Amino acid sequence: MAKLSAVVSLLISRLVAAAAIQTVTWATRLESAKETTTNLQFYFHDTLSGKNPSAVRIAQAIDTDKSPTLFGIVMMADDPLTETPDPQSKLVGRAQGLYGSACQDQLSLIMSMSFVFVDGPYNRSSISLLGNNRAMNPVREMPIVGGTGFFRLARGYAIAQTHRMDFKTGDAIVRYNVTVVH
Ligand SMILES: *[C@@H]1O[C@H](CO)[C@@H](O)[C@H](O)[C@H]1NC(C)=O
Ligand SMILES: *[C@@H]1O[C@H](CO)[C@@H](O)[C@H](O)[C@H]1NC(C)=O
Repeated sequence: MAKLSAVVSLLISRLVAAAAIQTVTWATRLESAKETTTNLQFYFHDTLSGKNPSAVRIAQAIDTDKSPTLFGIVMMADDPLTETPDPQSKLVGRAQGLYGSACQDQLSLIMSMSFVFVDGPYNRSSISLLGNNRAMNPVREMPIVGGTGFFRLARGYAIAQTHRMDFKTGDAIVRYNVTVVH
């Protein structure tokens, strides 16, 4: 008996919830479209040196320069993304956003960036990357947490591999292999 009344009250609460969904005027349920998986490969050029750096220091802590990992430094970047490691190769997008040193015992960057594409059907669509980048590891993985345009509702992951790094200037070319479902 107790079991039956539990089932009945569950059914009633489901019906009430369904009725509530049907009666509001400000929300509509849409059938979800099929998901697509896209793989993107490009090279990220982070240039700190020279007259036209693509990443600049915008903030730091009082002791940042004493820290072996530059803990507390925050950089703003507008880095070109190209088709091959050659900086003169086709521009496919730009990585715009922030990264900062977020670890005291090894170089680990917190990255919060929008990768805005400019080529072909992806023109003006973007993906958002948010996560930890242990820059000294040869291969790192970071989450893709969203997107716009073609990449609306994107989620996925980026595999980053250092292609070239100049330890004197900090300039780096990084290969990105991004897989997103959207
Ligand atoms: C991308 O879109 C912009 C603005 O609509 C346009 O000016 C540009 O030519 C487009 N680029 C490509 C490669 O389609
Ligand atoms: C890129 O990443 C995907 C998924 O992790 C993998 O299957 C593919 O082999 C990678 N491509 C290259 C060129 O590394």
